[in-house]
Amino acid sequence: PEYISVANLASVLKMRVEDFVKKLEDLGFEDVQNDHILNAEHAGLIAQEYNFEPIIQAKGEDGDIYAAPARSPEDYAKLPPRPPVVTIMGHVDHGKTTILDYIRKSSVAATEFGGITQHIGAFSVPLVSGKKITFLDTPGHAAFETMRARGANVTDIVVLVVAADDSVMPQTIEAIKHAQAAKVPIIVAINKIDKEQAHPDRVKQDLGRHGVEVEEYGGDVQTVLVSGKTGQGIPDLEEAISLQSEVLDHRADPEANVEGWVLEGTTKKSGKVATVLVRNGTLRQGDILVAGTTWTRVRALRNEAGAAVKEIGPGMPVEVDGWREQPIAGDEALQASSEQQAAQIADLRTEKLERLQMAKDMEAINETRRLEA
Ligand code: GTP
Ligand code: MG
Repeated sequence: PEYISVANLASVLKMRVEDFVKKLEDLGFEDVQNDHILNAEHAGLIAQEYNFEPIIQAKGEDGDIYAAPARSPEDYAKLPPRPPVVTIMGHVDHGKTTILDYIRKSSVAATEFGGITQHIGAFSVPLVSGKKITFLDTPGHAAFETMRARGANVTDIVVLVVAADDSVMPQTIEAIKHAQAAKVPIIVAINKIDKEQAHPDRVKQDLGRHGVEVEEYGGDVQTVLVSGKTGQGIPDLEEAISLQSEVLDHRADPEANVEGWVLEGTTKKSGKVATVLVRNGTLRQGDILVAGTTWTRVRALRNEAGAAVKEIGPGMPVEVDGWREQPIAGDEALQASSEQQAAQIADLRTEKLERLQMAKDMEAINETRRLEA
């Protein structure tokens, strides 16, 4: 409701109507009666006068679904930890894919599934400690940018790959800026340490010149010397990530309604699939998800090894099938209670988008007319 009567607002503010009417007149409103209608803006201003924080339209009232509100720090601390989500960034040819491939191969070899890895935009690595790390792959990178543009952070940690024989380059600097703008902590992987021309100290000094203060120079950014080629230092990199994630202390509620991000959407022979990074809740076969203007009742969940899994918890990526339309990377995926609700929400959002588009078109037409006049 975008309007409220004076009598109703008085009751919300727990005031006698007569007193409230008097107050409104003091504030400059004229001819106020009990059934006088206030618009949302005025009602909000008046509510603020009485130290109320007005919510013009409560989330969910418009028939859409929204993520659950943030928990209080005390409630959050009671939740179990979730795996950290890590994005690898760095300059062209500095070895991002080589490092990811090394980690992925050794992790797939270490799991029961074996076989060929599939690129689903993300994969999770079990550590010796039993903890897990989730890596976003290069396609996940695009989603990272989309979500950043929307003010949402999908990644908890950025691993900045810098080749020890090339040091800091333009895209290294860009990656630093992205991570800093998103307030995401950086761990530096100084790569190609197997090469004769490797100068890790030069890399550390160059990083300092670009606002990344490494531990060796009194800062708090961890650096790890690695080789994506030989695998040297990769366990140390995983350890550094695990340490950082303990400091960050990310938690999630496995019992909550499912919330996640679409990292990638593709169309396969089997239909339209999406890689979803679960942020909260546990996604199971048969669950219903809405993402943007499309939805699915999940038939099968597959992990990065292509193996079917029954359920997947917070911080973990999974391939989800059965989408009506192909989901778009960067969209939020939220659990609906029924197929009917999911379909309604998808329709509602489509209508909203169409209305927005219409408004934009009108704007463009008016602009053209103005220019012509
Ligand atoms: P883009 O995706 O194009 O940005 O590159 P990238 O950062 O993913 O680099 P990629 O992993 O493709 O590696 C580039 C080249 O460096 C390849 O020829 C790799 O074999 C080589 N390379 C990567 N890591 C190492 C390393 O640790 N040591 C050596 N000697 N070569 C490496
Ligand atoms: Mg690459």
